[in-house]
Amino acid sequence: MQVVRTVAETRAALWALRAGQGTVGFVPTMGALHEGHLSLVRAAKAGCGVVVASIFVNPTQFGPNEDFAKYPRTFEADCALLEAEGVDVVFAPQVEEMYPEGAATFVEVEGISDRLDGVSRPGHFRGVATVVAKLFHIVQPDRAYFGQKDAAQVAVLRRMVRELHFPLELVACPTVREADGLAMSSRNRYLSAEERQQALVLKRALDAITEKYAAGERDAAALREAGLRVIAQEPAAKLDYLKLVSPLTLEDVQHAEGETLVAIAAWVGATRLIDNVVIGSRV
Ligand code: PAF
Repeated sequence: MQVVRTVAETRAALWALRAGQGTVGFVPTMGALHEGHLSLVRAAKAGCGVVVASIFVNPTQFGPNEDFAKYPRTFEADCALLEAEGVDVVFAPQVEEMYPEGAATFVEVEGISDRLDGVSRPGHFRGVATVVAKLFHIVQPDRAYFGQKDAAQVAVLRRMVRELHFPLELVACPTVREADGLAMSSRNRYLSAEERQQALVLKRALDAITEKYAAGERDAAALREAGLRVIAQEPAAKLDYLKLVSPLTLEDVQHAEGETLVAIAAWVGATRLIDNVVIGSRV
């Protein structure tokens, strides 16, 4: 496994590999890897001849009062995990490599970036779209793999790929959960043992909505109400949002008729967690 630090090194490494082994699969990450990330790597390995991962804690997607400085950085352990999965190249740039001094070029996917997490994290998706566009230009993958846990991120990036004509397939992989249902996240390591239990309320709320939907309810307000009742039972959880939206546009729906994204974000202690499920089927 080659670990490369610069754009030039990455392009040189991939030039040689691409010629010999065909399609390039790409897994962008901010490190602090867990089974969710590894599931993306495995999907890339299964579908592509060459697999590239990036490890870069992207400053532009963190707000001024967010956890950029304390975001877990576990580079050696991450590389060991990626090597064990058979990753070919790890691109791990410094901030200056990705954002040369005075960098003034950003990618903004208007409208959709201001929904769900975009409301309480203004500028977050601008940072995500910018760094992912840069990474796509550098790596030039045939397929790029993202976790469905960040469903809003997937929606924003799908739109960007389409509108900027990136010649790649964006693959969204299922959320990986702990045995008790908690969605895996690098931020779970911030939780105390007590908070770790309290955090299960997010999945319980989604389950309540899924059950009500399975029982025949289609009214979005009534479905949401079922989730809110569950959240209210856990005073330690401070709800940011619980919404039923279109998975493509992230706009609110009134009726869960077609495929509907049920997305939740809540604070448990000082940690903001997100989760989601998709109910209904494509019409
Ligand atoms: O999902 C993440 O870890 C990040 O948002 C990403 C896609 C690596 C961009 O920094």
